Amino acid sequence: MIERRKWTAIPGLFVLAAGAVMISAYSGASSSQNRSPVQPIKFPHPVHVQKLGLNCLYCHYTANKSPDPGLPAVGTCMGCHASVGPDRLASDLGPKRTSAEIKKLWDYADVKTLMTPGLGPNARPIPWIRIHKVPEYVHFPHMRHVNAGVTCQTCHGQIQKMNQVYQFASLNMGWCVSCHVNGYSAAEGLEAAGYAAPAGPPATGSGVPKPVVAERKKARYDCANCHY
Ligand code: HEC
Ligand code: HEC
Ligand code: HEC
Ligand code: HEC
Ligand code: HEC
Repeated sequence: MIERRKWTAIPGLFVLAAGAVMISAYSGASSSQNRSPVQPIKFPHPVHVQKLGLNCLYCHYTANKSPDPGLPAVGTCMGCHASVGPDRLASDLGPKRTSAEIKKLWDYADVKTLMTPGLGPNARPIPWIRIHKVPEYVHFPHMRHVNAGVTCQTCHGQIQKMNQVYQFASLNMGWCVSCHVNGYSAAEGLEAAGYAAPAGPPATGSGVPKPVVAERKKARYDCANCHY
């Protein structure tokens, strides 16, 4: 009798164990909305994007070719900051200033004087704190979105105006699925980016402007599209 009971319990235990594995594989949520950690260097996006006119891809150079956009290496920063140092005299960039933040960058690059070529022997990577993160069981390919024309700001907000980056969107499943189901339009994307929506096609003979054709780009929303 006792022997029997022990054996009948086994399939039940097996199901429980399999369930536990599945639940643990599918647990954990995305990083939270409005999260805005203080970074090791107070890197100002507005100065680099709005004032200097750098393209997002200048630094996040794999956003259109890989799932992960990447953060710039110290060498990329030093391409400019070897000559734009912690101390600057009055120039067309502004009045004379001393920057503790650029000094920190030089410390990471192990550079002590202006115009030092390359990095010093003790250069180390800047330990940027990751802000946006979906759980491991979610598949998110940046390049598919960027190449479909979805503007960075649709998902990240107007980074070019953020002195300290924060997580703009929830990154939860409903957020992903609602765009895949309802579709994305280029006009909305430009508006989200902070640029005016493009004007509609020129008015035809009647003088009545044609409505802008909002062709919405949809994407797959079956479970396996986003989950491994
Ligand atoms: C367009 C992408 C997308 C699709 C399609 C999708 N998911 Fe998700 N799913 C996500 C994301 C992102 C998360 C992370 C959730 C979060 O933080 O709220 C998630 C989380 C989950 C979780 C874990 C929930 C938790 O709170 O731990 C389960 C379970 C899940 N999805 C099941 C499914 C099933 C079943 C389907 C098909 C009906 C599906 N998903 C379709 C993107 C997607
Ligand atoms: C000069 C280089 C540079 C340029 C240009 C740049 N970024 Fe960044 N970006 C960084 C650095 C460095 C960080 C990490 C520090 C921080 O969060 O500010 C970062 C962080 C981010 C993050 C948060 C990353 C995370 O951990 O989740 C996003 C999103 C982002 N940038 C988007 C953009 C967008 C969109 C543009 C164009 C409008 C842009 N960046 C232009 C260097 C740059
Ligand atoms: C294309 C050239 C270029 C690149 C690349 C670049 N910067 Fe800059 N950065 C500048 C210029 C120019 C300024 C404005 C300097 C000023 O006002 O004196 C600036 C300003 C800054 C400031 C603000 C200084 C202050 O205190 O006002 C910080 C911090 C900074 N950069 C860090 C970085 C970091 C970190 C990277 C790499 C992720 C980087 N920069 C990449 C050109 C660049
Ligand atoms: C469809 C929404 C969407 C678009 C469009 C998008 N991102 Fe993201 N981004 C995300 C999500 C979601 C994550 C978290 C991904 C993860 O955890 O794998 C993220 C993460 C990041 C990170 C941090 C990851 C890292 O490598 O450190 C950076 C930087 C970033 N995005 C920059 C950009 C830039 C630049 C663009 C435009 C060229 C862009 N993103 C377009 C949704 C988007
Ligand atoms: C603002 C709209 C938007 C949001 C938000 C969005 N996506 Fe997408 N997604 C798209 C578009 C558009 C495509 C490209 C479809 C194509 O290339 O035809 C796409 C493509 C994909 C693909 C490639 C497979 C396919 O359907 O072609 C995956 C995987 C994916 N998205 C996952 C996600 C996940 C996970 C999230 C949330 C973390 C997310 N997406 C959020 C619009 C969005």
